[in-house]
Amino acid sequence: MKAISYHEHGGPDVLQLVDRELPEPGPGEVRVRITVSGVNPTDWKTRAGANGPTESAVIPHLDGAGVIEAVGEGVERDRVGQRVWLLMVAPGRPGGTAAEFTVVPAEQAVPLPDEAGFDLGASLGVPAHTAHRALTVAEDGPRRLRPGALEGKVVLAAGGAGAVGHAVIQLARWAGATVISTISGPEKARLATAAGAHHVVNYREGDPAAEIRAIAPDGVDIIAEVALGANLDLDLAVLRTRGTIAVYANDGDKPVGLDVRQNMMLNTRFQFLVLYTVGSEVLAAASEDVSAAVGDGALPVGEEHGLPLVRFPLDRTADAHRAVEGGAVGKVLVDVSR
Ligand SMILES: NC(=O)c1ccc[n+]([C@@H]2O[C@H](COP(=O)([O-])OP(=O)(O)OC[C@H]3O[C@@H](n4cnc5c(N)ncnc54)[C@H](OP(=O)(O)O)[C@@H]3O)[C@@H](O)[C@H]2O)c1
Repeated sequence: MKAISYHEHGGPDVLQLVDRELPEPGPGEVRVRITVSGVNPTDWKTRAGANGPTESAVIPHLDGAGVIEAVGEGVERDRVGQRVWLLMVAPGRPGGTAAEFTVVPAEQAVPLPDEAGFDLGASLGVPAHTAHRALTVAEDGPRRLRPGALEGKVVLAAGGAGAVGHAVIQLARWAGATVISTISGPEKARLATAAGAHHVVNYREGDPAAEIRAIAPDGVDIIAEVALGANLDLDLAVLRTRGTIAVYANDGDKPVGLDVRQNMMLNTRFQFLVLYTVGSEVLAAASEDVSAAVGDGALPVGEEHGLPLVRFPLDRTADAHRAVEGGAVGKVLVDVSR
């Protein structure tokens, strides 16, 4: 099979198109023919060495969608032919989705409804599970998402035109929250609105805290934060007492200085999160809820839904990495077999 592989860390040029043996599914596993592979920032960061050394050749990419074409012992035979999306967040798995085939534990190949395309399937894994975690860690719940679960809550999606921000907006909206998104300009405002944000606020001009307070006078319940250092002052100015700041990144790398007393008085709940260590039970619960949202048609992708798709063929995976690293707007996908 054709695959993209690297055996040493470095820039995008370490990614090579190679021929590999077809992987065989072991007990409890399935082999999936990949149609579309989804690229996330973690893929280029891991390739660059951010997550520690690599001891063997790595096929990158955690997210993808395709069709099950073989099953291992103990897996129902009737899963062969099933369209699936993949959640491969398991540290140490060497075989990612930038290949014609991959093998995963059967439970990490989640059925994709007929009406959902492979582009959607390949966009779900990392962004949607990150968003789900951010929306389910508040002191007063909910722990699971479903229509109505966030009724009466105000959610602030920082950077709602990003891939995770987009998923935060869509899942929060599906669950019944009032959704505010910060954005950096009119184009991203258009995208966050198309994703479903009720309100957009430009964090780079004017008085964003006053604008958000005008929308949510009692404060924001949950903030899904992509750039804690840059946004901490804004977050604390708009958070309600006992509200939650769920931090999934510190884009821009601005150092975080914490005013302890201010946060004591607010009873702020900070929840830092990274999917690699969130635990299999949390991931499994999130997958169920994300699947329900997909089934309800609540997580569409594409420019008209606030997430433009930026595509590359498999042999240009290095360019796909350059695009993500360069801050491409939307979801970067690699077409593996169509
Ligand atoms: N913890 C986890 O498990 C986890 C999971 C997924 C992703 N991540 C990390 O989360 C980050 C975003 O991932 P992504 O896939 O969503 O990337 P993305 O699609 O590139 O989106 C990032 C978004 O953040 C916005 N942004 C940057 N600085 C901002 C600020 N100060 N305030 C508000 N918005 C800001 C950007 O827009 P503007 O610059 O125009 O505002 C952009 O829309 C990456 O660092 C990624 O590694 C972490």
